[in-house]
Amino acid sequence: LLYNIFYEIFTVCTSVVAEDPSGKLYHARNLDFGLLLGWDVKNNTWAVAELLRPLVVNVNFVRNNKTVFMSTSFAGYVGMLTGMKPGIFTLTMNERYSLDGGYIGVLEWILGKRDGMWMSFLTRNVLENATSYEESKNLLSKTKILAPAYFILGGNKSGDACVITRSRNSCLNIWDLDTNQGQWYLVETNYDHWKAPLPIDDRRTPAMKCMNASGQKVNCFMTLLPFVSLQLTTYTALMSVSDGKFESYLRTCPDPCMPW
Ligand SMILES: *[C@@H]1O[C@H](CO)[C@@H](O)[C@H](O)[C@H]1NC(C)=O
Ligand SMILES: *[C@@H]1O[C@H](CO)[C@@H](O)[C@H](O)[C@H]1NC(C)=O
Ligand SMILES: *[C@@H]1O[C@H](CO)[C@@H](O)[C@H](O)[C@H]1NC(C)=O
Ligand SMILES: *[C@@H]1O[C@H](CO)[C@@H](O)[C@H](O)[C@H]1NC(C)=O
Ligand SMILES: *[C@@H]1O[C@H](CO)[C@@H](O)[C@H](O)[C@H]1NC(C)=O
Repeated sequence: LLYNIFYEIFTVCTSVVAEDPSGKLYHARNLDFGLLLGWDVKNNTWAVAELLRPLVVNVNFVRNNKTVFMSTSFAGYVGMLTGMKPGIFTLTMNERYSLDGGYIGVLEWILGKRDGMWMSFLTRNVLENATSYEESKNLLSKTKILAPAYFILGGNKSGDACVITRSRNSCLNIWDLDTNQGQWYLVETNYDHWKAPLPIDDRRTPAMKCMNASGQKVNCFMTLLPFVSLQLTTYTALMSVSDGKFESYLRTCPDPCMPW
């Protein structure tokens, strides 16, 4: 139980969804875990992150010999933080460190004082059971959850991408892609997109600079590559729902290791 809670607390991430000029959608994420836990003076690394790095796995969930969804996960972790339902949608979840409920909510849940669904179990449910972008958007915005979260969703046709900002009980904001207004990508880190990020942890501005510099191109995989190499991170996933591509990379964080 603690192992599963652990990931949800000590994780920082950046997610990007982008549309190429032909209307195909691409989704990328950088994820860091075990951050700030046990600085190893001798090795200049975060000890816990080093211990957990070998547990990163790619898992394909199969039913009747057919892949239902794919994910990058951690061995023994039951929730889903990064996943793709081939041909239908891609989904990532980022932590929302809000005072509104937050991890006090998780403690209360352990003590039996709260109901609601684990955030990363909702994503797992959606990956397994939702059959369209609309259905997943609906489930992710309406299901009662245990603590606040950001859900980043990409569909399989032009315009179908959004960032859903959640409190426990309600959907605070849905930020949709709008290519007609020049909004061909969305970047979400661990802050509400309508507010400034913490100055010491601004991973958003560099990601946007990088996307702006690359520009909207055919095959956004190439556009997203500079973005995914931008941050020193634990793992990186690149997904293309239309092309059925799912790639993930283990990353190491050389000294001095900072996630941004
Ligand atoms: C520190 O580095 C040494 C040599 O690379 C390695 O043997 C040791 O396991 C590392 N310690 C930790 C806690 O990762
Ligand atoms: C799944 O595929 C394998 C190899 O193609 C086959 O041996 C097995 O019988 C199949 N299982 C089912 C439940 O269809
Ligand atoms: C998906 O739906 C089935 C049938 O309703 C249910 O048994 C299963 O638990 C659901 N999956 C998840 C991960 O909740
Ligand atoms: C998009 O998803 C729908 C189901 O929601 C499916 O019918 C359609 O074939 C998919 N389109 C592509 C291009 O994969
Ligand atoms: C990126 O481009 C958008 C749209 O032109 C602009 O609003 C935004 O300020 C730019 N951001 C950065 C960090 O360059």
